[in-house]
Amino acid sequence: MNFLEERIIKDGTVKPGNVLKVDNFLNHQMDVALLDEIGREFKRRFNDCKITKVLTIEASGIAIAYPVAREFGVPMVFAKKSKSVNIDGDVYVAEVESFTHKNKNNVIVSKRFLNSDDHVLIIDDFLANGCALQGLISICESAGATVEGLGIAIEKGFQIGGRVIRNLGYRLESLAIVDGMNAETGEINFREQK
Ligand code: G4P
Repeated sequence: MNFLEERIIKDGTVKPGNVLKVDNFLNHQMDVALLDEIGREFKRRFNDCKITKVLTIEASGIAIAYPVAREFGVPMVFAKKSKSVNIDGDVYVAEVESFTHKNKNNVIVSKRFLNSDDHVLIIDDFLANGCALQGLISICESAGATVEGLGIAIEKGFQIGGRVIRNLGYRLESLAIVDGMNAETGEINFREQK
């Protein structure tokens, strides 16, 4: 088991409805030393890529993307969620549907912060159905930027997102892939990774 899998076993809890709660160290209270380690691990995994920007989506993606951007020595940009339908021409827009929250948001990134010279590493905390990542990929496409790869802290391997993104040909690295969990026993099974 790697450091994140060990921490999930130690401090994560399984809730009914296949929800993994990690709000005591990852997405509410944050263990900043763990976030730094996540930053170093993504740097190691994507060290062969020439990254010019790290892109994520608010809110909890920001905390993961920040140490990654620091490791690469590049800016971090986060897509903002916007309910507004009146969006001006200065932003790239993608529509993102949340299956968990059963709502739709426009996500926007200012055209000033992403362009066709950029080589982007997309980072997020969770990958479930992949709608958020597909929105970020679509924003990169609109900007003409190159997506070098995608880094996720926790992938829920039994939901479709990971398969969809890999089938599109993207390099996707997840630090922990949960293949199954049991709310009654609290058991969490991780996919074996090289
Ligand atoms: P998707 O982004 O992969 O399509 O997934 P989905 O719509 O199903 O997820 C919606 C939100 O729920 C996302 O946060 C995602 O990170 C989060 N999520 C999904 N499964 C789990 C889980 O098992 N545990 C926890 N803790 N979160 C989960 P969001 O609302 O878009 O972002 P944020 O504002 O909370 O950062």
